[in-house]
Amino acid sequence: MHPSTIAVVSPLSTQLLDLGQRLKRIPNIGSVITIHSDLQNLPDLQDPPDVVIAADPFEEYQSMDALARFVMRYPRTRLVVCSRQNSADFLMHAMRSGVREVIPPEASDEFLLEAMRRIQSQQHPALEQEGTVMSFISCKGGGGASFLATNLAYALASQHNKRLAVIDLNLQYGDAALFVSDQKPATHLGELCQKMRHLDASLLSAAMLPVLPNYGLLASPETPALASDIQAGQIASIIRLARSQYDYVILDIGRGLDQVGFTALELSDQIYPILQNTIPYIRDGKRLLGLMQSMGYEDEKIFPVVNRHDRESEITIKQLETALAKKIALTIPNHYSAVAASVNQGVPVVKLAKASPVAKSLLNWASKLSGKCQNTPRGWIARVLH
Ligand SMILES: Nc1ncnc2c1ncn2[C@@H]1O[C@H](COP(=O)(O)OP(=O)(O)O)[C@@H](O)[C@H]1O
Ligand SMILES: [Mg+2]
Repeated sequence: MHPSTIAVVSPLSTQLLDLGQRLKRIPNIGSVITIHSDLQNLPDLQDPPDVVIAADPFEEYQSMDALARFVMRYPRTRLVVCSRQNSADFLMHAMRSGVREVIPPEASDEFLLEAMRRIQSQQHPALEQEGTVMSFISCKGGGGASFLATNLAYALASQHNKRLAVIDLNLQYGDAALFVSDQKPATHLGELCQKMRHLDASLLSAAMLPVLPNYGLLASPETPALASDIQAGQIASIIRLARSQYDYVILDIGRGLDQVGFTALELSDQIYPILQNTIPYIRDGKRLLGLMQSMGYEDEKIFPVVNRHDRESEITIKQLETALAKKIALTIPNHYSAVAASVNQGVPVVKLAKASPVAKSLLNWASKLSGKCQNTPRGWIARVLH
């Protein structure tokens, strides 16, 4: 970790002095400068520092927009906001703007130290070779989000030699580990969150259940009580760190659209709502897609998947697409015997029944994602179509 240069920006002299002095006491910080200004009227930074801590009331939209403008202008500088504001709306806006941390003005020295450590352990955004973050969300319980998330991860790791992290974000009785392992996870997300101040790549990988040498699964806590202290900000730090270490970070969100769920969706490059083609799923799917639209998630990153697809189904994919007003990205066939055997034994279906229709679909999906589509038509038609 190299010593960072930090600039504190505040329109209040006392705050500027206080924050500046406290930051100077933190070890491993190269230099601290103070700039008497608000972010909106910030003068040009000739030599942009590694970190800018902007202390501002951020009450008006104008000053909120200044956050996004700052990040666009100085992409290599990590922006930290020091503000009394902590509403979900503000935090969401800050995260969307690219703010790395939000700290309260009355943060203790220890809190400040911890935040600086986290920031320093993150790589330079412009230099990052970041992995793809994919969220799996069930339109309705039992849709197959956990089964697909964990098994697609296995296909990517075993067939394409990708580095995979699966994080089970079902904080109420998550079960992702059971789909791909018969081992009991030694630790879980709740315990990792308690060690946040030491969070780094080795701690993250040590907290994972090794499904394969290149596939780790971070299990959810065994009981909801052990999850009660988990905060969305901690989950965001874990996802960001995972993204810098793995080719794919697959998040099993289940049905939970709480603060943790929204944080996961915010940080996702691809969102896969999982549904089946029956009326209850379609109804809940519509609600979920509507909600995502109202939250402002880009339509291009949402890929609805129909699981347990049956060609004989009364409702066709076309009808489903009309009802959802959205294209179905992928269908996975229903195959009870192969999936039941896999789930009961805790052995990925691609390993247990490679020739089954479900395994083939998963392998094909993994090939498409990693850019090697097995089903690409060959010959001149392919050339013309391409
Ligand atoms: N393609 C499929 N074919 C047959 N059964 C499936 C398929 N996908 C999932 N299942 C079954 O559905 C059950 C519920 O899936 P799960 O992944 O736990 O749903 P969710 O996480 O969305 O609640 C699994 O235990 C599995 O037995
Ligand atoms: Mg699940």
